[in-house]
Amino acid sequence: MSSEVHPGTISIEQVAAGDTYPLRAQELRQGRPLEMDGDDAPYALHLAARLDGDIVGVVRFHPRDCPWLEAEAPWQLRGMATDPQVRRLGVGRALVAAGLSRVVQRGADLVWCDARAAAVGFYARIGFRPVTDEYELRPVGPHRGMVIELPIR
Ligand SMILES: CC(C)(COP(=O)(O)OP(=O)(O)OC[C@H]1O[C@@H](n2cnc3c(N)ncnc32)[C@H](O)[C@@H]1OP(=O)(O)O)[C@@H](O)C(=O)NCCC(=O)NCCS
Repeated sequence: MSSEVHPGTISIEQVAAGDTYPLRAQELRQGRPLEMDGDDAPYALHLAARLDGDIVGVVRFHPRDCPWLEAEAPWQLRGMATDPQVRRLGVGRALVAAGLSRVVQRGADLVWCDARAAAVGFYARIGFRPVTDEYELRPVGPHRGMVIELPIR
C-alpha cells in the first residue's frame, strides 16, 4: 500500500451568502455583524473554496463604484479570507482568479478592494496594484486601496 498522503482537491463554487459567514466570523468580522451591505443583492457573487467538502476560503464580488479610479463597470472585492490551515497554498489566488473570470463575463472592467495592510502583499502577488496611501478603516486598522484592470470582453 502506498504511504503517499493524498493532498485533497480544491474546488471553487458559487454559494449563498450565509455559507461564507463561518469563515468571515472566524477571520474577518470578530465582534461585528457577519452580514455586509449588499450580501443579498441580486448581483452579489459569493464564492467558496472547498477542500474535501469543507469551506476553506470565501470571497464576495459586487458591482460598486471605485472610490479612486473611473471605470465603466467597477466591482468591489470584499470579505476575502482563507482558513489559516491552508494559507500560502494557492487557495486565495484560486478564489480570486475564479471570481475575476466570472465578473469579466458579467462585464466588469475593474475590480477594487480596501486591502488590509497585512494582505497588500497577497493582492500584489495576484495582480492588484496599490492606488492610495495607507488609510484607517475602523475598527480594523490600516488599509490601502488596490485595483486590477480587466480585459474588456
Ligand atoms: C490574505 C489571505 C486571503 C491570503 O490567502 P492565501 O490562501 O494564503 O493566499 P495564496 O496562497 O493564494 O497566496 C498567493 C500568493 O500570495 C502570497 N501571499 C499570501 N499571503 C500573503 C501576505 N499576507 N503577504 C504577502 N504575500 C502573501 C503567497 O505566498 C502566494 O505567493 P506566490 O505567488 O509566490 O505563490 C489570507 O492570508 C487571509 O485570509 N488572511 C486573513 C484575512 C484577511 O486579511 N483577508 C483580506 C482582507 S482585505
